Amino acid sequence: MATVKEQLIENLIAEDELSQSKISIVGTGAVGMACAISILLKGLADELALVDVAEDKLKGETMDLQHGSLFFHTSKITSGKDCSVSENSKLVIITAGARQQEGESRLALVQRNVNIMKSMIPAIVRHSPECKILVVSNPVDILTYVVWKLSGFPPSRIIGTGCNLDSARFRYLIGEKLGVHPTSCHGWIIGEHGDSSVPLWSGVNVAGVPLKTLNPQLGTDSDKDQWKNIHKQVVNSAYEIIKRKGYTSWAIGLSVTDLAESILKNLRRVHPVSTMIKDLYGIKEEIFLSVPCILGRNGVSDIVKIKLNSEEENLFKKSATTIWNVQKDLII
Ligand code: LAC
Repeated sequence: MATVKEQLIENLIAEDELSQSKISIVGTGAVGMACAISILLKGLADELALVDVAEDKLKGETMDLQHGSLFFHTSKITSGKDCSVSENSKLVIITAGARQQEGESRLALVQRNVNIMKSMIPAIVRHSPECKILVVSNPVDILTYVVWKLSGFPPSRIIGTGCNLDSARFRYLIGEKLGVHPTSCHGWIIGEHGDSSVPLWSGVNVAGVPLKTLNPQLGTDSDKDQWKNIHKQVVNSAYEIIKRKGYTSWAIGLSVTDLAESILKNLRRVHPVSTMIKDLYGIKEEIFLSVPCILGRNGVSDIVKIKLNSEEENLFKKSATTIWNVQKDLII
């Protein structure tokens, strides 16, 4: 007797199993799952694969997302403990690793997370030799370097989320101060994601009006308006949130999704992400820091050459030294 399916459906052609815009997320902690829900809601992928070593958590999260399929436009949600489930990805997002505890700096996590990268990047690369890898785990700038080294990929295909979130926080806070939506408040934070990040006050503008022409002290200690506090708040953001809820997740998930959209849809938008900056601004080492990058289907295809004033350049170099001092002693 024919099954219900056979009676109902006349198959005409064999289904092509290969996904066209597959995204994989490694790590199903709070950050990985915030990325997952936000990528699904934007409909960026035709397949989303989740990878984690914690099998029960992975299965639970996968089932929970699959049960929401009616409300997504992503036809396939898969998962596995083994990196083979990430096969044929266009983009692999790395969120796995130890996370900051209360009062702990991002840099303190480094060797623990280097070891985790070593255990999985070779397999990721083997299963998706053409993918772009977006590194989210902290300390993100150093781990982006580590993933680049482990992958053997050209640096253009290894991207760290870097100051994309710091800049989003900056623009939100500028917007709050002015009563204007963050999309209309332009401002860039470059350098290290976190403690030594560098705000470019000279570029902060609304509708092309640089705020520094209205207040030449903007961002300095002598500014009566104390705009500098906004950058301090950006630097303290993660510490403040971790103190209160234990981890950060939503804003990083949304900012990762924005980067994924530029890559998957080849939008060539400019984002402050972590990229190889050797030979830029006099930096001699192979380190990754955020600068404005054009992001598209090939990853970082171009860097926007911003003119830094001498103070900004000094701060950027300090950021580079901070990273190098930790990176140079790593065992990869
Ligand atoms: C933060 C984490 C992602 O700044 O570093 O929220």
